[in-house]
Amino acid sequence: MDSQNVAAEHGEEISSAGRTALVTGAGSGMGRAIALALSAEGWNVVVADLNIDAANSTVSAARASQGRAHAVQVDVRSRQSVHEMVEQTVATFGSLELGVNFAGITGAGTLVADTTEEHVRAIVDVNLLGVWHSMAEEVSAMLKAGNKGLIINAASAMALRAAPRSAAYAMAKAAIVHASRSTAVEYASNGIRVIAVAPGPVNTPMYQANTLEVQRKIAAGVPLGRPAESEEIARAVVWLASSEAAYMTGTVFTLDGGDSA
Ligand SMILES: NC(=O)c1ccc[n+]([C@@H]2O[C@H](COP(=O)([O-])OP(=O)(O)OC[C@H]3O[C@@H](n4cnc5c(N)ncnc54)[C@H](O)[C@@H]3O)[C@@H](O)[C@H]2O)c1
Repeated sequence: MDSQNVAAEHGEEISSAGRTALVTGAGSGMGRAIALALSAEGWNVVVADLNIDAANSTVSAARASQGRAHAVQVDVRSRQSVHEMVEQTVATFGSLELGVNFAGITGAGTLVADTTEEHVRAIVDVNLLGVWHSMAEEVSAMLKAGNKGLIINAASAMALRAAPRSAAYAMAKAAIVHASRSTAVEYASNGIRVIAVAPGPVNTPMYQANTLEVQRKIAAGVPLGRPAESEEIARAVVWLASSEAAYMTGTVFTLDGGDSA
């Protein structure tokens, strides 16, 4: 029996037809690539970002390829804003089957003793609480509708290995891994699955904000010798959202060129 039939037999299939994905951070980098890849696969896509112009640009690109996409402005630091984003998603497309929580900020910083409380709070507010709020509101909407669903959260290879000058960022990403695993266990019996994705360096605007010298150093530290392209992460997310991956939950999907090996 092929994987689609196995998943269908167990009622676990997530078909893209008429299904809705909500992608945060979809105005840029991986979130944008994921939104466009899901749209190309036939998903209805809500493109959510703090930067509404960037979100609108992703929506235009999706619609130019006959996709069904809708932009929503969200500040993932605010539970109320995230609640409204999920409400708008259901109001626009009628349901929510996939939450992809990729809004985030960079964490390159200082040694622990030199790191300000403001820096730590800023990282935790967006990268950890932002994912927490999104995941919690997405689960609530899925439960309310009686829907099975999948949530994919952006962790990082930095959650799995240590490096200097990034403790606050790595701490938030490691916490996302555990929050994802805990949530997966809590809601598995409701048919809601949760996966944390752990990319290594990815060639996005966040990565390009580093000087070229720093980018070269980062790339040299990756066993495959280069950062991933956003589209490589997006293809993996499309696969995770397919019936091929229907048995996967409560786990970390690492895609890092060997960075955390
Ligand atoms: N680029 C990398 O090397 C890398 C590696 C591993 C993990 N990650 C993680 O992947 C995710 C996406 O990273 P990226 O490189 O695509 O970043 P990016 O900077 O290209 O895109 C991030 C998007 O998040 C949005 N955003 C920021 N704060 C927000 C807020 N408060 N509310 C809503 N939206 C907000 C930004 O406007 C932006 O459009 C992040 O969680 C990041 O930590 C990145």
